[in-house]
Amino acid sequence: MLQAQGTNQPFLETLSLILQDELDRRQSRLIERRYQQSGLEEKLTFAEFDWSFNPKLPRQACFQLQTLAFIAAGENALLIGKPGTGKSHIAKAIAYQAIRQSHKVQYIETDDFFQRHALSPAAQREVRLRNIIDCDLLVLDDLFLSRTIPDDAGALLQALIHQRYKLHRSVIVTSNRVVQDWGAYLNDNTMSTTILDRLMHHCHLLEFDGRSYRLKHAAETLARETKSN
Ligand SMILES: Nc1ncnc2c1ncn2[C@@H]1O[C@H](COP(=O)(O)OP(=O)(O)OP(=O)(O)O)[C@@H](O)[C@H]1O
Ligand SMILES: [Mg+2]
Repeated sequence: MLQAQGTNQPFLETLSLILQDELDRRQSRLIERRYQQSGLEEKLTFAEFDWSFNPKLPRQACFQLQTLAFIAAGENALLIGKPGTGKSHIAKAIAYQAIRQSHKVQYIETDDFFQRHALSPAAQREVRLRNIIDCDLLVLDDLFLSRTIPDDAGALLQALIHQRYKLHRSVIVTSNRVVQDWGAYLNDNTMSTTILDRLMHHCHLLEFDGRSYRLKHAAETLARETKSN
């Protein structure tokens, strides 16, 4: 009804701009808060990724994941392959994209989490676990980086995957260990099968084959230093 009053038009337009501005500010504060709570330590995107460096990478499947349709569908993604090929970069970029789309995300450096988890106070542990189970997207980065995980960490991993599976909530796992060896790293083949069975039920499998970007950097630095000496 107010809109019908012609004389109020400039006032209403200004009011609407102020409201929109306030809504935008609230939205970016929410996104920043979600980022702070996610455990991510860098805001990576696909823009910094050089797809020409390793032409065999599953580029299309990565962009497909970046649409976040897999989160709505409750699907998982397993990014497996050689060290330094960008698995963690892509997982972090998808996680950050999900945060920008207002999703709740938990990012975990898996080894570090399992080491610290057992040592942290019970109340803190409970809050963290609840967030990990409830969030829209869980990223377990660099699983089995140190080849073995503490004894009770295997059971914890199994419980987390099982809970999220029951709730149809998405998990991204990155690892440079082939799934056939997970039983050995867990020291329990049945547990490995139980975990993989749930993870892979509705899953995008991406293989990262190629050269290490870290070594490229190291080689370039070495070449520069040799030249300047
Ligand atoms: N194609 C690329 N373009 C730009 N940066 C890249 C590319 N591939 C990797 N990087 C960078 O190289 C570093 C190592 O990549 P990343 O940690 O994603 O590798 P990874 O596959 O997870 O390795 P790992 O198996 O050892 O965990 C990161 O800083 C990442 O941003
Ligand atoms: Mg990694």
